[in-house]
Amino acid sequence: MTNPQYNVWKKLVDDHILDFLPSTDANAHTLKESMEYSLKAGGKRLRPVLLIAAADFCGLDAREALPYACALEFVHTSSLIHDDLPCMDDDDLRRGIPTNHKVYGEAMATLAGDGLLLASFEAMTKDCQLYLDDPEKMRRRIRAMNTIVKGSGVRGMVQGQSCDVEIEGKECSSALLDFIHLNKTAALITASVKAGGYLAGADAKTIADLTAYGEAIGLAFQIADDLLDVYGTEEEMGKRVHKDAELSKATYPAVYGIEASKARLAELTERALAIMAPYYDNAQFFNDLARDLMTRTN
Ligand code: IPE
Ligand code: IPE
Ligand code: MG
Ligand code: MG
Ligand code: MG
Repeated sequence: MTNPQYNVWKKLVDDHILDFLPSTDANAHTLKESMEYSLKAGGKRLRPVLLIAAADFCGLDAREALPYACALEFVHTSSLIHDDLPCMDDDDLRRGIPTNHKVYGEAMATLAGDGLLLASFEAMTKDCQLYLDDPEKMRRRIRAMNTIVKGSGVRGMVQGQSCDVEIEGKECSSALLDFIHLNKTAALITASVKAGGYLAGADAKTIADLTAYGEAIGLAFQIADDLLDVYGTEEEMGKRVHKDAELSKATYPAVYGIEASKARLAELTERALAIMAPYYDNAQFFNDLARDLMTRTN
């Protein structure tokens, strides 16, 4: 990413993410190993960086946002492990290495996903317990948690994934396609910036702008992912390409074609930039990121 701050925050996440992962008892060391396997494989850390960036934008120190940032990455990584299972997208490569179930088996991969998902609650509620005597800080944290949980669950990522698998091989309307992409991907990305704002105690207008920005780049992110499945490379993506057509997935290129998908991606990027324009230079990080996501190759 072009903005140098991206890598500073990414490193903060990479350096501390395992600190927030609860330890299993020795008998369950395989579970711990499989959760760590997928977390250590890396990835862009987009969602935690976005949460930290939004918190910073609204005046909160990155370190105070870190438990929630890492919790988001736990949720995201769990969604990838489950998404790759044979009963879902049946993939064998993720983040440049074999998928979790290829190494640990389907049962352990399912449990690693469950474990990571719930580790996110543990990380967030453990942090909350430090603020039991500070109602304002507690209120901010509860709002952030509620936002993250909604973006992850049956009103966000999980419902999007359910429609994604159900529509496989069938005709998909443009309205349903937007619903799928907005839920399976944009919901967690939107929750990232919104939760960062809540943690920092941002005002309603700023939260609304961050939410609109998150929705625009979140939808753009999945359109870029769909396009990269068509013309990206396995080396850069760290995952198989040409899978969506093989599985007859509901994607932007499948429903609208390549050129119209690229045009929509550009239009959403412009929308994201327009939303942040009133903040001028203060929104430099968000502007750089929106542009980078449009031209990304991984
Ligand atoms: C992949 O997400 C799943 C989608 C929502 C398209 P990322 O592209 O953020 O994956 P990592 O975290 O960088 O591996
Ligand atoms: C997945 O979308 C979105 C998730 C919630 C994991 P995809 O199925 O397109 O993600 P990739 O291409 O496998 O990373
Ligand atoms: Mg999928
Ligand atoms: Mg997939
Ligand atoms: Mg994809």
